[in-house]
Amino acid sequence: MPNDFQSRLSQTVQDIEQVLEGIIAQGTGDRTRLAAAMRHAALGGGKRLRPFLLVSSAALFGVDRNCALRTAAALECIHCYSLVHDDLPAMDDDDLRRGRPTVHVAFDEASAILTGDGLLTLGFEILSDHATHQNADIRCRLIGAMARASGAKGMIAGQMLDIEAEKKSLPVENIIRMQKLKTGALIEYACEAGAILGEAGIKAQRALRAYAGDLGLAFQITDDLLDYKGADDEVGKRTGKDGHRGKATFVSLLGASGAYDEAQRRIRSALEHLAFFDERAEPLRQVAKFVLGRKS
Ligand code: IPE
Ligand code: IPE
Ligand code: MG
Ligand code: MG
Ligand code: MG
Repeated sequence: MPNDFQSRLSQTVQDIEQVLEGIIAQGTGDRTRLAAAMRHAALGGGKRLRPFLLVSSAALFGVDRNCALRTAAALECIHCYSLVHDDLPAMDDDDLRRGRPTVHVAFDEASAILTGDGLLTLGFEILSDHATHQNADIRCRLIGAMARASGAKGMIAGQMLDIEAEKKSLPVENIIRMQKLKTGALIEYACEAGAILGEAGIKAQRALRAYAGDLGLAFQITDDLLDYKGADDEVGKRTGKDGHRGKATFVSLLGASGAYDEAQRRIRSALEHLAFFDERAEPLRQVAKFVLGRKS
């Protein structure tokens, strides 16, 4: 593995692309419209931050990289499904994602719903596969944790709160809760899965959970900041939309500089939680700094 952060990240981007290519080909059969739409949604774009967090957490415990990459590919399938549905006209109604037309624009709305469904179920299929981990108990724990993170007490609950909060102002505790669910839950899963694969001790699990909790929140705050002040072509999404739709965000509550301060505080706190680990946690420290300075 290369040493510096940018090369490590691009190595993971490359590896995940390759694993996802193979899995989608296997999971969809062939040249159907559904396969094309799933490829459009999951391949050739994205920062792959969650996969990077997962493989970096797993590496703390010396987990086989191939197991970590397959688990990360499952998580990325579920993340991509959440984006396809998030962009639908009934949700955020977006036409640009990762610098390309969203799935319902490039295909059609029914295909986008089914593409999301296909990626969601494929994610769980990957986790249940013997090739992901030979120990059935570990596979079961990965599946249960994924169901909790992505389901009705996790990401989906956050998405529901996000939609309900349009056009009404929420107190800060409710915004934190919504963001921890809609975005934090999958980011926390990335670190939790690394700990499950590595059969980490309780103290390591706690430190990783606390790190991921702060990082997830900082990540959504910087997402809201990019919507507020980024440019479409740099961010790869239509920006300036949250204000228009009346979304409840840290920016709407605290203003851009207050939101940035909060993101900074969260990153400092995330880094403190990593004090438990030695230099093997360096990629996790660097990715936290990357989140604060990101431009897309
Ligand atoms: C966007 O996530 C949606 C949020 C949860 C904020 P990312 O910013 O990680 O999107 P990609 O995967 O890099 O496109
Ligand atoms: C999306 O949050 C969170 C999920 C997809 C679960 P946003 O709606 O802010 O994400 P973007 O800005 O469209 O990527
Ligand atoms: Mg949304
Ligand atoms: Mg959105
Ligand atoms: Mg956003």
